[in-house]
Parts: sequence; C-alpha cells; structure tokens
Amino acid sequence: MSEIRTGLGWDVHRIAAGRTMILGGVTVPCEFGLEGHSDADVLAHAITDAILGAAALGDIGMHFPDSDPRWKGSDSLVFLRHAHELAKQRGYRIVNLDSTVILERPKLKDYRQAIRQRLAETLELELDRVSVKFKTAEKVGPVGEGRSAEAQAVVTLEK
Ligand code: C5P
Ligand code: MG
Repeated sequence: MSEIRTGLGWDVHRIAAGRTMILGGVTVPCEFGLEGHSDADVLAHAITDAILGAAALGDIGMHFPDSDPRWKGSDSLVFLRHAHELAKQRGYRIVNLDSTVILERPKLKDYRQAIRQRLAETLELELDRVSVKFKTAEKVGPVGEGRSAEAQAVVTLEK
C-alpha cells in the first residue's frame, strides 16, 4: 500500500546590495541580491524544508546550522540534495513540487524554465513534476517595499 505525505516550506531573506541573486540554483541578473550565511537561495531553502517536512525530518537549520562555517557562502542546492537523499533513504520519492517566489522586482518569468530545469535535475525529477510561480506583494509590506524576498513550497512524497 502506498503512503502519500505532504510537506510545507517557507523562507524569507533580506534584499542587499552587492550580493548575487540566486533562485533555485539559477543566477538572476540584478543589481541586488539576497543576504544570508549561505548563497541565500530563498527558493531552494523553502523546497528543502518542504521535503524535510513531508518526511518529518526536522528543518534546514537542524541539518545545516547557519553558525557552521562549512555552510558560509554554500550552494543551497547541496541542502536540497541532502534533504532529498534523506527522504530517499527512508523509501520516499517526490511526486511533485509546487512553489512560489514573492519578490517585487525584477520580473522572474523569463527565468522560470531555467529554474524548473535546475530543480528537476537536482531532485532527479521530470520537468512536469516541478512548478515554480512568481508573485509581487503589490508594493505592500517588506516584500512589496523591496526589502525582502519570500518563497513558499509544497512537496508531495510517496512511499
Ligand atoms: O504579483 P502579480 O499578481 O502582479 O504578478 C503577476 C505575474 O507577474 C505573475 O503571475 C508572474 O508571472 C509575474 N511575476 C514575475 N516576477 C515577479 C513577480 C511576478 O515574473 N517578481
Ligand atoms: Mg533561507
């Protein structure tokens, strides 16, 4: 009998000058980026938490503490692969992944395919199992005022 599980992930990072904007492992040309201990890939972090959540394996900070110098400037796809590996070890496979990045600017839709492809490769998934959506915050609140970026993700696992 198969078992289906769902996990939820969310993350936020401050916007900062002089940083590279990396979303889902893809560099987005922009005059600012996201602040963080790692590469601050807010989307990869939300998806990592969604995978860990579905398998009840804690959260990203438990596996990759931001106090650990090993993760300074780290490629966040490392975290994503690790979470996937832990889920696989417990007999789970990813059915699908849906996500939303909330960022006022720049426009991200031209990078959707590249981001989906990168995530699909990283998680060994067919492209049609990977969804990435974008929203502004309609100029309201910290995201809307261009001070931060958020990401949300939902992952379904099957055993
Ligand atoms: O937030 P809003 O509903 O106005 O976004 C409209 C569309 O603009 C979204 O569906 C998305 O395709 C695109 N978008 C984008 N990059 C963003 C925010 C939104 O490409 N940073
Ligand atoms: Mg993060």
